[in-house]
Amino acid sequence: MFNKSALVLALGLSLTVQANTLTRDNGAPVGDNQNSTTAGANGSVLLQDVHLIQKLQRFARERIPERVVHARGTGAHGEFVASDDLSDLTIAAPFANQGKTTPVFVRFSTVIHGNHSPETLRDPRGFAVKFYSDQGNWDLVGNNLPVFFIRDAIKFPDMVHSLKPSPVDNMQDPNRVFDFMSHEPGSTQMLTFVYSDLGTPASYREMDGFGVHAYKFINNQGQVHYVKFNWKSQQGVKSLDADKVTKTQGMDFNHLTRDLYQNINAGNNPKWDLFVQVITPDQLDDFDFNPLDATKTWPGVKERKVGTMTLNRMPDNFFEETEQSAFAPANLIPGIEPSEDRLLQGRIFSYADTQLYRLGVNHSQLPINKAKVMVDNHNQDGAMNFGNSKSNVNYEPSRVEPKAVVTAARAVETRLDGTVMQKAISKQDNFSQAGALYRSFDKQQQANLIRNLSGDLGAVKDSAIKHKMLAHFYKADTDYGSRLTKAVNGDMKQVQQIAKSL
Ligand code: HEM
Repeated sequence: MFNKSALVLALGLSLTVQANTLTRDNGAPVGDNQNSTTAGANGSVLLQDVHLIQKLQRFARERIPERVVHARGTGAHGEFVASDDLSDLTIAAPFANQGKTTPVFVRFSTVIHGNHSPETLRDPRGFAVKFYSDQGNWDLVGNNLPVFFIRDAIKFPDMVHSLKPSPVDNMQDPNRVFDFMSHEPGSTQMLTFVYSDLGTPASYREMDGFGVHAYKFINNQGQVHYVKFNWKSQQGVKSLDADKVTKTQGMDFNHLTRDLYQNINAGNNPKWDLFVQVITPDQLDDFDFNPLDATKTWPGVKERKVGTMTLNRMPDNFFEETEQSAFAPANLIPGIEPSEDRLLQGRIFSYADTQLYRLGVNHSQLPINKAKVMVDNHNQDGAMNFGNSKSNVNYEPSRVEPKAVVTAARAVETRLDGTVMQKAISKQDNFSQAGALYRSFDKQQQANLIRNLSGDLGAVKDSAIKHKMLAHFYKADTDYGSRLTKAVNGDMKQVQQIAKSL
Protein backbone atom coordinates (compact mmCIF):
# COMPACT_ATOMS: atom_id res chain seq x y z
CA MET A 1 0.00 0.00 0.00
CA PHE A 2 1.09 3.64 -0.61
CA ASN A 3 2.59 5.18 2.62
CA LYS A 4 2.80 9.02 2.32
CA SER A 5 5.04 9.80 5.35
CA ALA A 6 7.56 7.11 4.41
CA LEU A 7 7.88 8.68 0.96
CA VAL A 8 8.49 12.20 2.41
CA LEU A 9 11.29 10.92 4.65
CA ALA A 10 12.82 8.89 1.86
CA LEU A 11 13.13 12.06 -0.23
CA GLY A 12 14.79 13.91 2.65
CA LEU A 13 11.84 16.26 2.92
CA SER A 14 11.07 16.11 6.62
CA LEU A 15 8.57 18.83 7.55
CA THR A 16 10.49 19.75 10.69
CA VAL A 17 13.30 22.29 10.27
CA GLN A 18 16.66 20.52 10.72
CA ALA A 19 20.09 22.08 11.27
CA ASN A 20 20.78 22.36 7.54
CA THR A 21 17.25 23.02 6.31
CA LEU A 22 16.95 26.00 3.95
CA THR A 23 14.38 28.43 5.41
CA ARG A 24 12.73 31.75 4.67
CA ASP A 25 13.41 34.67 7.03
CA ASN A 26 10.40 33.66 9.16
CA GLY A 27 11.99 30.25 9.74
CA ALA A 28 9.58 28.29 7.54
CA PRO A 29 11.23 25.60 5.37
CA VAL A 30 11.70 26.39 1.68
CA GLY A 31 9.96 23.96 -0.70
CA ASP A 32 11.87 24.76 -3.89
CA ASN A 33 14.83 27.09 -4.33
CA GLN A 34 15.27 26.50 -8.09
CA ASN A 35 11.88 27.22 -9.64
CA SER A 36 9.50 30.15 -9.14
CA THR A 37 5.81 29.42 -8.61
CA THR A 38 3.99 29.75 -11.93
CA ALA A 39 0.43 29.52 -13.18
CA GLY A 40 0.89 26.27 -15.10
CA ALA A 41 3.86 25.22 -17.21
CA ASN A 42 3.84 28.33 -19.44
CA GLY A 43 2.00 30.79 -17.18
CA SER A 44 3.17 33.92 -15.34
CA VAL A 45 4.99 33.93 -11.99
CA LEU A 46 2.63 34.38 -9.05
CA LEU A 47 2.77 37.18 -6.48
CA GLN A 48 2.11 34.57 -3.81
CA ASP A 49 5.66 33.18 -4.23
CA VAL A 50 6.82 34.89 -1.01
CA HIS A 51 10.17 33.08 -1.09
CA LEU A 52 11.03 34.54 -4.50
CA ILE A 53 9.82 38.01 -3.49
CA GLN A 54 11.71 37.95 -0.20
CA LYS A 55 14.94 36.91 -1.97
CA LEU A 56 14.66 39.77 -4.46
CA GLN A 57 13.73 42.30 -1.77
CA ARG A 58 16.59 41.32 0.52
CA PHE A 59 19.06 41.28 -2.38
CA ALA A 60 18.03 44.78 -3.49
CA ARG A 61 18.67 46.08 0.04
CA GLU A 62 22.11 44.46 0.61
CA ARG A 63 24.04 47.73 0.37
CA ILE A 64 24.19 50.25 3.16
CA PRO A 65 25.80 53.64 2.55
CA GLU A 66 29.55 53.20 2.45
CA ARG A 67 31.72 55.32 4.73
CA VAL A 68 31.90 58.84 3.24
CA VAL A 69 35.70 58.56 3.61
CA HIS A 70 37.81 55.45 4.34
CA ALA A 71 35.26 53.28 2.46
CA ARG A 72 37.78 50.61 1.42
CA GLY A 73 39.22 48.73 4.35
CA THR A 74 39.86 45.47 6.10
CA GLY A 75 39.70 44.49 9.77
CA ALA A 76 41.23 41.99 12.18
CA HIS A 77 40.78 40.94 15.80
CA GLY A 78 43.57 40.83 18.34
CA GLU A 79 44.73 41.91 21.76
CA PHE A 80 46.68 44.69 23.40
CA VAL A 81 49.00 43.82 26.29
CA ALA A 82 50.27 46.66 28.49
CA SER A 83 54.01 46.62 29.09
CA ASP A 84 53.99 49.23 31.82
CA ASP A 85 51.90 50.54 34.70
CA LEU A 86 50.78 54.00 33.57
CA SER A 87 48.81 54.92 36.69
CA ASP A 88 51.10 57.92 37.20
CA LEU A 89 49.52 59.35 34.04
CA THR A 90 46.06 57.87 33.55
CA ILE A 91 43.29 55.84 35.13
CA ALA A 92 42.46 54.35 31.69
CA ALA A 93 41.88 50.61 32.07
CA PRO A 94 44.11 49.25 29.26
CA PHE A 95 47.17 50.79 30.99
CA ALA A 96 46.25 49.81 34.59
CA ASN A 97 49.10 47.35 35.10
CA GLN A 98 51.86 45.53 33.31
CA GLY A 99 50.46 42.49 31.49
CA LYS A 100 46.90 43.81 31.38
CA THR A 101 45.26 42.34 28.28
CA THR A 102 42.50 44.12 26.35
CA PRO A 103 40.79 42.64 23.27
CA VAL A 104 40.90 44.87 20.18
CA PHE A 105 39.42 45.11 16.68
CA VAL A 106 41.47 47.04 14.10
CA ARG A 107 40.37 48.36 10.73
CA PHE A 108 42.93 49.53 8.16
CA SER A 109 41.71 51.55 5.19
CA THR A 110 42.43 53.76 2.23
CA VAL A 111 40.75 57.17 2.37
CA ILE A 112 39.45 58.73 -0.79
CA HIS A 113 38.00 56.20 -3.20
CA GLY A 114 35.04 53.82 -2.92
CA ASN A 115 34.51 50.47 -1.29
CA HIS A 116 36.06 48.32 -4.02
CA SER A 117 38.72 50.74 -5.28
CA PRO A 118 42.34 49.65 -5.83
CA GLU A 119 44.43 49.53 -2.67
CA THR A 120 47.44 50.66 -4.70
CA LEU A 121 46.25 54.28 -4.93
CA ARG A 122 48.26 57.05 -3.22
CA ASP A 123 46.52 57.97 0.02
CA PRO A 124 47.06 58.14 3.75
CA ARG A 125 46.02 54.80 5.31
CA GLY A 126 43.53 54.55 8.18
CA PHE A 127 44.67 52.77 11.35
CA ALA A 128 41.63 52.55 13.65
CA VAL A 129 41.80 50.53 16.88
CA LYS A 130 38.83 49.66 19.10
CA PHE A 131 39.87 48.64 22.62
CA TYR A 132 37.09 46.60 24.30
CA SER A 133 38.22 47.75 27.75
CA ASP A 134 36.61 46.96 31.10
CA GLN A 135 35.65 50.64 31.32
CA GLY A 136 33.86 50.54 27.96
CA ASN A 137 35.10 50.92 24.38
CA TRP A 138 37.98 53.26 23.58
CA ASP A 139 38.54 53.98 19.88
CA LEU A 140 41.93 55.33 18.83
CA VAL A 141 41.10 56.34 15.24
CA GLY A 142 44.42 57.16 13.59
CA ASN A 143 46.34 57.06 10.33
CA ASN A 144 49.68 55.67 9.11
CA LEU A 145 51.09 59.21 8.90
CA PRO A 146 51.73 61.37 11.98
CA VAL A 147 50.12 64.66 10.84
CA PHE A 148 47.12 65.90 8.85
CA PHE A 149 46.43 68.31 5.96
CA ILE A 150 44.33 70.82 7.90
CA ARG A 151 44.05 72.04 11.47
CA ASP A 152 40.37 73.01 11.79
CA ALA A 153 37.35 70.71 11.27
CA ILE A 154 35.52 73.51 9.45
CA LYS A 155 37.78 72.80 6.42
CA PHE A 156 37.25 69.00 6.37
CA PRO A 157 34.27 68.82 3.95
CA ASP A 158 36.03 71.24 1.53
CA MET A 159 39.27 69.31 1.72
CA VAL A 160 37.56 65.96 1.09
CA HIS A 161 35.50 67.40 -1.81
CA SER A 162 38.72 68.56 -3.46
CA LEU A 163 40.38 65.16 -3.02
CA LYS A 164 37.37 63.09 -4.11
CA PRO A 165 36.52 62.57 -7.79
CA SER A 166 35.09 65.63 -9.55
CA PRO A 167 31.30 66.09 -9.33
CA VAL A 168 31.35 66.70 -13.12
CA ASP A 169 33.20 63.71 -14.55
CA ASN A 170 33.75 61.48 -11.47
CA MET A 171 37.55 61.46 -11.82
CA GLN A 172 40.11 62.59 -9.24
CA ASP A 173 41.82 65.74 -10.51
CA PRO A 174 45.08 67.27 -9.23
CA ASN A 175 43.81 70.68 -10.45
CA ARG A 176 41.08 70.55 -7.83
CA VAL A 177 43.32 69.05 -5.10
CA PHE A 178 46.05 71.68 -5.45
CA ASP A 179 43.56 74.54 -5.93
CA PHE A 180 42.41 73.73 -2.38
CA MET A 181 45.83 72.87 -0.91
CA SER A 182 47.40 76.09 -2.26
CA HIS A 183 45.21 77.89 0.31
CA GLU A 184 46.39 75.58 3.11
CA PRO A 185 50.13 76.06 3.61
CA GLY A 186 49.82 73.92 6.76
CA SER A 187 49.31 70.92 4.43
CA THR A 188 52.95 71.05 3.21
CA GLN A 189 54.21 68.43 5.67
CA MET A 190 51.28 66.04 5.09
CA LEU A 191 51.65 66.37 1.31
CA THR A 192 55.36 65.56 1.68
CA PHE A 193 54.44 62.40 3.61
CA VAL A 194 51.66 61.36 1.20
CA TYR A 195 53.78 61.90 -1.93
CA SER A 196 56.72 60.02 -0.46
CA ASP A 197 56.53 56.24 -0.88
CA LEU A 198 54.80 56.10 2.52
CA GLY A 199 51.67 57.04 0.54
CA THR A 200 51.76 53.57 -1.05
CA PRO A 201 52.49 50.98 1.68
CA ALA A 202 53.61 47.47 0.71
CA SER A 203 51.24 45.93 3.27
CA TYR A 204 49.11 46.98 6.22
CA ARG A 205 51.42 44.88 8.43
CA GLU A 206 54.42 46.97 7.39
CA MET A 207 53.25 50.43 8.32
CA ASP A 208 53.27 52.46 11.53
CA GLY A 209 50.20 54.12 13.04
CA PHE A 210 49.59 57.46 14.73
CA GLY A 211 46.79 58.94 16.81
CA VAL A 212 47.91 62.28 15.24
CA HIS A 213 46.14 64.53 17.75
CA ALA A 214 47.14 65.30 21.29
CA TYR A 215 44.76 63.74 23.82
CA LYS A 216 44.67 64.30 27.58
CA PHE A 217 45.63 61.65 30.09
CA ILE A 218 44.02 62.12 33.53
CA ASN A 219 45.37 60.31 36.61
CA ASN A 220 43.67 59.59 39.93
CA GLN A 221 44.85 62.95 41.31
CA GLY A 222 42.98 64.72 38.48
CA GLN A 223 46.32 65.76 36.94
CA VAL A 224 46.39 66.37 33.19
CA HIS A 225 49.12 65.46 30.72
CA TYR A 226 48.94 65.97 26.96
CA VAL A 227 49.79 62.80 25.07
CA LYS A 228 50.33 61.59 21.51
CA PHE A 229 49.93 57.87 20.62
CA ASN A 230 52.36 56.28 18.13
CA TRP A 231 52.20 52.64 16.92
CA LYS A 232 55.45 51.12 15.58
CA SER A 233 55.25 48.05 13.39
CA GLN A 234 57.44 45.13 14.58
CA GLN A 235 57.42 44.03 10.92
CA GLY A 236 59.22 47.27 9.95
CA VAL A 237 57.94 49.84 7.46
CA LYS A 238 57.89 48.89 3.79
CA SER A 239 56.53 50.95 0.90
CA LEU A 240 56.14 50.59 -2.86
CA ASP A 241 57.86 52.97 -5.26
CA ALA A 242 55.97 54.19 -8.35
CA ASP A 243 57.17 51.29 -10.54
CA LYS A 244 56.21 48.66 -7.99
CA VAL A 245 52.80 50.33 -7.58
CA THR A 246 52.13 49.99 -11.31
CA LYS A 247 53.25 46.37 -11.31
CA THR A 248 51.26 45.48 -8.20
CA GLN A 249 48.13 47.18 -9.49
CA GLY A 250 48.31 45.15 -12.70
CA MET A 251 48.60 41.92 -10.73
CA ASP A 252 46.43 42.39 -7.63
CA PHE A 253 44.84 45.65 -6.52
CA ASN A 254 43.57 43.92 -3.36
CA HIS A 255 47.13 43.33 -2.21
CA LEU A 256 46.72 44.95 1.24
CA THR A 257 43.61 43.00 2.17
CA ARG A 258 44.94 39.74 0.73
CA ASP A 259 48.24 40.09 2.60
CA LEU A 260 46.48 40.55 5.94
CA TYR A 261 44.15 37.54 5.44
CA GLN A 262 46.98 35.32 4.18
CA ASN A 263 49.38 36.16 7.00
CA ILE A 264 46.97 36.03 9.92
CA ASN A 265 45.21 32.90 8.62
CA ALA A 266 48.66 31.27 8.38
CA GLY A 267 49.43 32.22 12.01
CA ASN A 268 51.94 34.92 11.06
CA ASN A 269 50.39 37.44 13.44
CA PRO A 270 51.55 41.05 13.03
CA LYS A 271 52.49 43.14 16.08
CA TRP A 272 52.77 46.82 16.84
CA ASP A 273 54.33 48.47 19.91
CA LEU A 274 52.46 51.45 21.30
CA PHE A 275 54.46 54.47 22.45
CA VAL A 276 53.26 57.67 24.09
CA GLN A 277 54.83 61.12 23.99
CA VAL A 278 53.86 63.13 27.04
CA ILE A 279 54.03 66.84 27.89
CA THR A 280 52.58 68.82 30.79
CA PRO A 281 50.09 71.68 30.27
CA ASP A 282 52.88 74.12 31.32
CA GLN A 283 54.98 72.95 28.36
CA LEU A 284 52.37 73.86 25.74
CA ASP A 285 53.98 77.29 25.23
CA ASP A 286 57.54 75.93 25.05
CA PHE A 287 57.39 75.09 21.33
CA ASP A 288 57.89 77.26 18.21
CA PHE A 289 54.55 75.88 17.05
CA ASN A 290 51.26 75.03 18.72
CA PRO A 291 51.54 71.42 19.96
CA LEU A 292 47.73 71.08 19.68
CA ASP A 293 47.95 71.68 15.91
CA ALA A 294 47.32 68.41 13.99
CA THR A 295 49.70 69.47 11.20
CA LYS A 296 52.64 69.03 13.62
CA THR A 297 54.63 66.22 15.22
CA TRP A 298 56.41 66.67 18.55
CA PRO A 299 60.10 66.29 17.63
CA GLY A 300 62.39 65.82 20.60
CA VAL A 301 59.66 64.69 23.03
CA LYS A 302 60.81 61.27 24.12
CA GLU A 303 58.67 58.20 23.57
CA ARG A 304 57.68 55.77 26.31
CA LYS A 305 56.64 52.25 25.33
CA VAL A 306 53.31 51.29 26.90
CA GLY A 307 52.31 48.01 25.28
CA THR A 308 52.11 45.70 22.28
CA MET A 309 49.18 44.84 20.03
CA THR A 310 48.95 41.52 18.20
CA LEU A 311 46.39 40.82 15.47
CA ASN A 312 45.52 37.14 15.46
CA ARG A 313 42.08 36.45 13.95
CA MET A 314 40.33 37.53 10.77
CA PRO A 315 36.59 38.20 10.82
CA ASP A 316 34.26 35.30 9.96
CA ASN A 317 32.16 37.64 7.86
CA PHE A 318 33.33 40.87 6.26
CA PHE A 319 30.02 42.74 6.30
CA GLU A 320 28.98 41.80 9.82
CA GLU A 321 32.26 42.77 11.40
CA THR A 322 34.43 45.00 9.19
CA GLU A 323 31.75 46.90 7.28
CA GLN A 324 29.48 47.39 10.27
CA SER A 325 32.29 48.37 12.63
CA ALA A 326 31.95 51.94 13.86
CA PHE A 327 35.03 53.71 15.21
CA ALA A 328 34.53 57.12 16.78
CA PRO A 329 36.98 59.47 18.50
CA ALA A 330 34.03 60.21 20.84
CA ASN A 331 34.35 56.68 22.25
CA LEU A 332 36.65 57.61 25.13
CA ILE A 333 36.98 56.08 28.59
CA PRO A 334 37.81 57.57 32.01
CA GLY A 335 41.42 58.75 32.05
CA ILE A 336 41.46 59.83 28.37
CA GLU A 337 39.89 63.09 27.17
CA PRO A 338 40.17 65.09 23.95
CA SER A 339 42.64 67.96 23.87
CA GLU A 340 41.58 71.38 22.61
CA ASP A 341 42.91 70.52 19.10
CA ARG A 342 40.26 72.06 16.77
CA LEU A 343 40.40 69.22 14.30
CA LEU A 344 39.89 66.60 17.00
CA GLN A 345 36.99 68.54 18.53
CA GLY A 346 35.17 68.37 15.16
CA ARG A 347 35.90 64.64 14.87
CA ILE A 348 34.40 64.03 18.30
CA PHE A 349 31.04 65.07 16.80
CA SER A 350 31.41 63.87 13.21
CA TYR A 351 31.96 60.09 13.49
CA ALA A 352 29.14 59.33 15.90
CA ASP A 353 26.90 61.51 13.72
CA THR A 354 27.76 59.79 10.43
CA GLN A 355 27.32 56.37 12.06
CA LEU A 356 23.77 57.27 13.14
CA TYR A 357 23.13 57.77 9.41
CA ARG A 358 25.31 54.96 7.97
CA LEU A 359 24.36 52.20 10.43
CA GLY A 360 21.42 53.52 12.41
CA VAL A 361 20.66 54.71 15.91
CA ASN A 362 21.34 51.35 17.56
CA HIS A 363 24.65 50.53 15.83
CA SER A 364 26.42 50.24 19.18
CA GLN A 365 24.31 47.13 19.88
CA LEU A 366 25.81 45.25 16.91
CA PRO A 367 28.17 42.52 18.17
CA ILE A 368 31.29 44.14 16.62
CA ASN A 369 30.57 47.49 18.28
CA LYS A 370 29.07 46.27 21.55
CA ALA A 371 31.04 47.08 24.68
CA LYS A 372 32.24 44.01 26.60
CA VAL A 373 30.91 45.59 29.82
CA MET A 374 27.17 45.87 30.52
CA VAL A 375 25.69 48.99 28.90
CA ASP A 376 23.07 50.42 31.26
CA ASN A 377 21.32 53.73 30.56
CA HIS A 378 17.91 55.08 29.54
CA ASN A 379 18.53 55.57 25.83
CA GLN A 380 15.82 53.47 24.23
CA ASP A 381 13.81 52.34 21.21
CA GLY A 382 14.71 53.41 17.67
CA ALA A 383 15.05 51.21 14.59
CA MET A 384 16.43 47.70 15.13
CA ASN A 385 16.62 47.89 18.89
CA PHE A 386 17.30 44.66 20.74
CA GLY A 387 18.89 46.16 23.83
CA ASN A 388 16.05 47.90 25.68
CA SER A 389 16.03 47.56 29.46
CA LYS A 390 13.25 45.31 30.77
CA SER A 391 12.68 47.64 33.71
CA ASN A 392 9.73 49.93 34.34
CA VAL A 393 12.14 52.68 35.44
CA ASN A 394 13.47 54.38 32.28
CA TYR A 395 14.44 57.63 33.98
CA GLU A 396 17.01 58.76 36.53
CA PRO A 397 17.10 59.58 39.45
CA SER A 398 14.73 57.05 40.96
CA ARG A 399 14.18 55.82 44.51
CA VAL A 400 12.86 52.52 43.13
CA GLU A 401 15.90 51.73 41.04
CA PRO A 402 18.83 53.99 41.96
CA LYS A 403 21.84 54.09 39.65
CA ALA A 404 25.41 54.87 40.62
CA VAL A 405 27.79 57.25 38.86
CA VAL A 406 31.59 57.13 39.04
CA THR A 407 32.87 60.54 40.06
CA ALA A 408 36.35 59.74 38.73
CA ALA A 409 34.75 59.71 35.26
CA ARG A 410 33.70 63.37 35.51
CA ALA A 411 35.21 65.80 33.00
CA VAL A 412 38.52 67.01 34.36
CA GLU A 413 38.30 70.53 35.78
CA THR A 414 39.93 72.91 33.32
CA ARG A 415 40.45 76.60 33.86
CA LEU A 416 39.12 78.66 30.97
CA ASP A 417 39.61 82.34 30.35
CA GLY A 418 38.87 84.05 27.06
CA THR A 419 36.65 85.73 24.53
CA VAL A 420 34.43 83.95 22.01
CA MET A 421 36.04 84.46 18.60
CA GLN A 422 36.75 83.00 15.16
CA LYS A 423 40.48 83.34 14.55
CA ALA A 424 43.27 81.22 13.14
CA ILE A 425 45.70 79.76 15.69
CA SER A 426 48.95 81.57 16.34
CA LYS A 427 52.42 80.01 15.85
CA GLN A 428 51.37 78.23 12.66
CA ASP A 429 54.96 77.58 11.51
CA ASN A 430 53.71 75.95 8.31
CA PHE A 431 57.01 74.94 6.74
CA SER A 432 59.82 74.05 9.21
CA GLN A 433 58.70 70.48 9.90
CA ALA A 434 58.04 69.81 6.20
CA GLY A 435 61.60 70.95 5.40
CA ALA A 436 63.08 68.80 8.18
CA LEU A 437 61.07 65.84 6.89
CA TYR A 438 62.42 66.33 3.35
CA ARG A 439 65.99 66.54 4.67
CA SER A 440 65.48 63.37 6.75
CA PHE A 441 64.83 61.35 3.56
CA ASP A 442 67.80 59.64 1.93
CA LYS A 443 68.70 60.39 -1.72
CA GLN A 444 66.48 57.66 -3.16
CA GLN A 445 63.50 58.66 -0.99
CA GLN A 446 63.92 62.30 -2.06
CA ALA A 447 64.13 61.31 -5.72
CA ASN A 448 60.97 59.20 -5.41
CA LEU A 449 59.15 62.07 -3.67
CA ILE A 450 60.08 64.52 -6.43
CA ARG A 451 58.99 62.02 -9.08
CA ASN A 452 55.65 61.23 -7.38
CA LEU A 453 54.79 64.85 -6.58
CA SER A 454 55.89 66.41 -9.87
CA GLY A 455 53.65 63.95 -11.73
CA ASP A 456 50.51 65.45 -10.15
CA LEU A 457 51.82 69.03 -9.81
CA GLY A 458 52.86 68.98 -13.46
CA ALA A 459 49.24 68.23 -14.41
CA VAL A 460 48.02 71.48 -12.81
CA LYS A 461 46.98 73.85 -15.61
CA ASP A 462 46.54 77.06 -13.62
CA SER A 463 49.99 78.62 -13.33
CA ALA A 464 49.11 80.64 -10.19
CA ILE A 465 48.01 77.49 -8.32
CA LYS A 466 51.08 75.57 -9.47
CA HIS A 467 53.51 78.32 -8.44
CA LYS A 468 51.83 78.84 -5.06
CA MET A 469 52.28 75.12 -4.36
CA LEU A 470 55.90 75.20 -5.55
CA ALA A 471 56.52 78.17 -3.24
CA HIS A 472 55.20 76.17 -0.26
CA PHE A 473 57.70 73.40 -0.96
CA TYR A 474 60.49 75.92 -1.64
CA LYS A 475 59.76 77.68 1.63
CA ALA A 476 60.01 74.29 3.40
CA ASP A 477 63.39 73.57 1.79
CA THR A 478 65.03 75.41 -1.10
CA ASP A 479 66.46 72.24 -2.62
CA TYR A 480 63.04 70.53 -2.41
CA GLY A 481 61.25 73.47 -4.07
CA SER A 482 63.94 74.00 -6.71
CA ARG A 483 63.96 70.36 -7.80
CA LEU A 484 60.17 70.32 -8.05
CA THR A 485 60.14 73.59 -10.00
CA LYS A 486 62.63 72.16 -12.48
CA ALA A 487 60.70 68.91 -12.76
CA VAL A 488 57.47 70.69 -13.72
CA ASN A 489 59.11 73.44 -15.87
CA GLY A 490 58.06 76.13 -13.38
CA ASP A 491 59.36 79.70 -13.18
CA MET A 492 61.97 79.81 -10.42
CA LYS A 493 61.80 83.60 -10.02
CA GLN A 494 58.05 83.49 -9.50
CA VAL A 495 58.43 80.69 -6.94
CA GLN A 496 61.03 82.65 -4.97
CA GLN A 497 58.91 85.78 -5.03
CA ILE A 498 55.82 84.01 -3.66
CA ALA A 499 57.95 82.17 -1.07
CA LYS A 500 59.22 85.54 0.20
CA SER A 501 55.68 86.66 0.92
CA LEU A 502 54.77 83.53 2.92
C1 HEM B 1 36.59 57.79 8.89
C2 HEM B 1 35.38 62.43 9.42
C3 HEM B 1 40.01 63.60 10.25
C4 HEM B 1 41.06 58.90 10.45
C5 HEM B 1 35.88 58.96 8.91
C6 HEM B 1 34.46 59.06 8.67
C7 HEM B 1 34.14 60.36 8.83
C8 HEM B 1 35.33 61.09 9.15
C9 HEM B 1 32.76 60.98 8.68
C10 HEM B 1 33.55 57.90 8.33
C11 HEM B 1 33.20 57.17 9.61
C12 HEM B 1 32.21 56.06 9.43
O1 HEM B 1 31.38 56.08 8.52
O2 HEM B 1 32.24 55.12 10.27
C13 HEM B 1 36.53 63.14 9.73
C14 HEM B 1 36.57 64.55 10.07
C15 HEM B 1 37.87 64.88 10.27
C16 HEM B 1 38.66 63.66 10.10
C17 HEM B 1 35.34 65.45 10.16
C18 HEM B 1 38.49 66.18 10.65
C19 HEM B 1 37.78 67.16 11.19
C20 HEM B 1 40.70 62.44 10.44
C21 HEM B 1 42.02 62.34 10.96
C22 HEM B 1 42.31 61.01 11.02
C23 HEM B 1 41.17 60.27 10.53
C24 HEM B 1 42.88 63.50 11.42
C25 HEM B 1 43.54 60.35 11.53
C26 HEM B 1 44.11 60.73 12.65
C27 HEM B 1 39.94 58.22 10.04
C28 HEM B 1 39.88 56.78 9.94
C29 HEM B 1 38.60 56.46 9.49
C30 HEM B 1 37.89 57.71 9.32
C31 HEM B 1 41.00 55.80 10.26
C32 HEM B 1 38.07 55.07 9.19
C33 HEM B 1 37.57 54.40 10.45
C34 HEM B 1 37.13 53.00 10.12
O3 HEM B 1 38.00 52.19 9.78
O4 HEM B 1 35.92 52.73 10.17
N1 HEM B 1 36.40 60.21 9.17
N2 HEM B 1 37.81 62.64 9.76
N3 HEM B 1 40.20 61.17 10.17
N4 HEM B 1 38.73 58.74 9.66
FE1 HEM B 1 38.29 60.67 9.70
